[in-house]
Amino acid sequence: MAGPDASDELPEFGEGHYWETHYEKAAEEGENLYDWLVGWTELRWLLEPLMGFDTRRAVLHLGSGNSPLPEDMYDAGYHHQTAVDISEVVTKQMSERNQASRPEIQWRAADCRNMAEICSESFPLVVDKSTLDAFFCNDQHALAIAEFIKEAFRVTSVGGAFISVSMHRPPAVLPWLQHHAFRWTVQAVPIDKPRPESSGRPGRCHCHAYICGNKRRTAASLEKHWLRLAHRVREHPDSDLSGSDFDASSDSDSQDGEAEL
Ligand SMILES: C[S@@+](CC[C@H](N)C(=O)[O-])C[C@H]1O[C@@H](n2cnc3c(N)ncnc32)[C@H](O)[C@@H]1O
Repeated sequence: MAGPDASDELPEFGEGHYWETHYEKAAEEGENLYDWLVGWTELRWLLEPLMGFDTRRAVLHLGSGNSPLPEDMYDAGYHHQTAVDISEVVTKQMSERNQASRPEIQWRAADCRNMAEICSESFPLVVDKSTLDAFFCNDQHALAIAEFIKEAFRVTSVGGAFISVSMHRPPAVLPWLQHHAFRWTVQAVPIDKPRPESSGRPGRCHCHAYICGNKRRTAASLEKHWLRLAHRVREHPDSDLSGSDFDASSDSDSQDGEAEL
């Protein structure tokens, strides 16, 4: 399966039903694992410091698909992992595949925009790799992106981090991550690697890891700011955020969620 570039047309990636069919077909074709964009080799130097090199800390993967990342992290000692994906098919496949060898990984079929069963502020590290990219393809992308980031923010513990690895460049992603509803400090780190031969596309893969640090209680911040953002994206579900969405005069706290680029 070929990985995408930001310039490709990816019309269906934002729809849950697309992924169910995709993983059924992948299994029929004998594809058990596929890492979008990059894998543990390219991310380890970023992820381990975020975990304080403490293998007892819990990791949550959002839209984990059949990526080997949770398995590779497990083999590096990080046993406390939960991997959520909308696809029942891939969740079952990954659960069965790892049942005996990596029994502590929890594989859950759920919509990561609404993970009611996951407590607020419960994960010191929350990882997205190309799931945000899928939401960028949704017909109602503003709504999907805002709900996704809101859930990521809600479940990330205070002092913890959300890392989003995306093929989209900072001008498209930062307005969302830096929205004052989330109160994150954000750092964008470019990542570049040769594409695997199996992609069938020569050249290099360019993406960014967006590292979002959470220093505040999420509930208070969401209570204060989420309703306004939610109203905005429900009114304009297929739009992008504009400068007026960051109007500091309407929010005295909005200046201290500074970005570090
Ligand atoms: C581009 S793939 C990335 C898979 C994996 N993270 C990787 O890096 O290889 C996007 C993944 O997001 C999942 N996904 C899409 N919408 C979702 C949703 N609403 N909730 C949870 N997972 C979702 C898809 O099933 C798919 O596995």
